[in-house]
Amino acid sequence: MAETKKLLRALAGETLDTPPIWMMRQAGRYLPEYRATRAQAGDFLSLCYNPELAAEVTLQPIRRYGFDAAILFADILLVPQALGADLWFVTGEGPRLSTITDQAGFDALKPASAIHDTLSPVYETVRILSRELPAETTLIGFAGAPWTVATYMIAGRGTPDQGPAHALREGNTALFEALLERITEATIDYLSMQIEAGAEVVKIFDSWAGSLKGDDFAKYAVEPCRRITAAIKDRHPGIPVIGFPREAGEGYVGFHAATGVDCVALDNSVDPEWAAKNVQVSGCVQGNLASSHMVTGGQALVDETRRIVKAFSGGPHIFNLGHGITPDADPENVQLMIDTVRG
Ligand code: CP3
Repeated sequence: MAETKKLLRALAGETLDTPPIWMMRQAGRYLPEYRATRAQAGDFLSLCYNPELAAEVTLQPIRRYGFDAAILFADILLVPQALGADLWFVTGEGPRLSTITDQAGFDALKPASAIHDTLSPVYETVRILSRELPAETTLIGFAGAPWTVATYMIAGRGTPDQGPAHALREGNTALFEALLERITEATIDYLSMQIEAGAEVVKIFDSWAGSLKGDDFAKYAVEPCRRITAAIKDRHPGIPVIGFPREAGEGYVGFHAATGVDCVALDNSVDPEWAAKNVQVSGCVQGNLASSHMVTGGQALVDETRRIVKAFSGGPHIFNLGHGITPDADPENVQLMIDTVRG
């Protein structure tokens, strides 16, 4: 059967008249209906592990806006938790985890094969979504990339420069690489289970790839993404993979070929005209409107949206923000962006 879902057509390399559109963090605090369901669940993690409510918040932006894709509601930090790390969220600040800084901390982690005990509610969310989503909407599963997940496991929180992770990488390379290996194995199994439950595409979020330079980018951003992509394609032929090495800059060039991903997601620090010439030549790209436009709106939003659509109009493109939408965004600006893209 010929593919009819717009997102899958773009991922297969088709150039469409209007790009499919979805938005990172589209289920989030800028929506009043999200805040209400989150309150019902109690807190963010309880929401992630409640399949009915997690499916509900995933569906909310689809009902409101008719996006071309829904992204599973979960978090990249559920994998460290499933490996045995303590995880909690401090309101207004972000995630906190128990830290891994030495061999004893690493030895206390569970094997990758044990993650499903914790993560099975996530697979149930995917099953509910694959029943309930409209026929034209693509379901995206996801995981964090090993480097990004490791930065949180090592520091115990988000860090501006990933200093603690870089220190371990330099000070105890063997331990650092063993941790990346454990996360890589867990991620392959986790994404594979999401696909078996009904995810049609998977995305690998490497939010902190930009702080890896030169050979380290090749070893710790490109290589794990290549391994995960190869394993997914081996186990589930035909499932497209989106890679997001955020703030990779020049590292975006050649990323399709080096990793085997079907689509490279771009942050908004790269110029769309440059990215069309240097990245889209190798395959589908996703992005890359600055999420600040969802706060400020107006003519600048319209102009910048049009510029991005035009720059990428010569090849396969999925419209998205360059990073997640923020809680202070105005839901009406999201509608304005969609109307502008769909013209
Ligand atoms: O995009 C989606 O709608 C799907 C769900 C999703 C969430 N997090 C929900 C979430 C996805 C794909 C993520 C990915 C994620 N989580 C990343 C990679 C992408 C990125 O943003 O760089 C990272 C680094 C995390 C870790 C994380 N989770 C942080 C640093 C925070 C706190 C920052 C913040 O925005 O509050 C979270 C919390 C989080 N994850 C929220 C949501 C909707 C907000 C939680 C709340 O409701 O309070």
